[in-house]
Amino acid sequence: MKILGIETSCDETAVAVLEIKGKNNITVLSNIVSSQVKLHAKFGGVVPNLAAREHVKNIRRVFELALKTAGLNPPATAFSGAPPRAVAGGFKKEIDMIAVTRGPGLGPALLVGLSFAKTLAWLYDKPVIGVNHLEGHIFSNWLPPIRKINNYQLTINNAFCHIFPALNLIVSGGHTELVLMKDYGKYELVGETLDDAVGEAFDKVARLLGLEYPGGPAISKIAKNGNSDKYPLPRPMLKLKNYNFSYSGLKTAVLYLIRDLKKDLGLSTLNLKQRADIAASFQKSATEVLVIKTIRAAKQYGVKSILLSGGVSANETLRTKLEKNAEQNGFKYFQPLMKYTGDNAAMIALAGYFSYKAGKKPKKDLKWDLIDMDANLRLRNTPL
Ligand code: KG4
Ligand code: ZN
Repeated sequence: MKILGIETSCDETAVAVLEIKGKNNITVLSNIVSSQVKLHAKFGGVVPNLAAREHVKNIRRVFELALKTAGLNPPATAFSGAPPRAVAGGFKKEIDMIAVTRGPGLGPALLVGLSFAKTLAWLYDKPVIGVNHLEGHIFSNWLPPIRKINNYQLTINNAFCHIFPALNLIVSGGHTELVLMKDYGKYELVGETLDDAVGEAFDKVARLLGLEYPGGPAISKIAKNGNSDKYPLPRPMLKLKNYNFSYSGLKTAVLYLIRDLKKDLGLSTLNLKQRADIAASFQKSATEVLVIKTIRAAKQYGVKSILLSGGVSANETLRTKLEKNAEQNGFKYFQPLMKYTGDNAAMIALAGYFSYKAGKKPKKDLKWDLIDMDANLRLRNTPL
């Protein structure tokens, strides 16, 4: 079957076509992501209404490109005013289902993808399945080519056995969550951030250091030349027995560190080496708390595997540390390919497929109900 995925929860307009053949064969036929990073950079973060406006401008072009790349024609005139049945072409014939992000995310941004999905569903009589964005991140681990980690490989089939219970560390610009996955669709929130998400902390610390937005990649880049032990920064909530996180205090500690350093050295700006040391020290602190608390929770809940996902899962320090610690403690460990760490629609299409396979009926009626959406959807107990 072929699934069209649509993702507009934040600042990426993304459309993908996924093909599932037989029991284990997942092919990403196309995965188009149009990033708005440049637009939001000057604001130091994503502006919801601007994001929505950009999605409206871009979604048709991204959709058409995704179809063309997947070899489905002719989508180009789908919205040109010609009678829909005449132009539906490959899309009408070949797409079996539409999977669209319902939440969590920015309300105005989500509405663009949802409305687009519902319009397509209405025009071409396709079923639509609503996908939880965080569940999408979890299933980014199954997107091919899947490498073997700890001698173990994910397949469609073992999504329903072998790896459960699993502990998911989902880390992005909006979320820092430990989610216990007892089985497909059975989720329990084990811990979360009480204030800033870890990606948000990377973005804010980058700003303090005069680096570009998004801060995560910028911090990791300069941290490579820094000494991560130079400045002992706090490890927030590390000693507490629960599995919650907090990143606003760490960000404030960096703010004071920069202020004091400048004052002590009589400088108006820090040099590259000083900034690299701060970036490396911050990165060490932020990732160490994630790794230690994840392993601790994995032991307490007796899980078989640990899965990393979300935009911050692109962080090499986090990937290496978590893989090593998971392995040393006997857990199966998985992390998405770098190209699927950020927001994309292939992961939404795949989560939609798993939802469908688990028995969730795509909603034919969703296309009529624009209000049937919860922008603050949380990943608990059941995905939707
Ligand atoms: O999942 P994502 O693409 O969007 C949200 O759903 O939020 O995550 C974006 C976040 C941003 O905060 C960005 O700074 C962070 O992921 N990020 C990183 C890295 N690459 C992206 N954080 C740390 N290290 C990275 N290499
Ligand atoms: Zn995300």
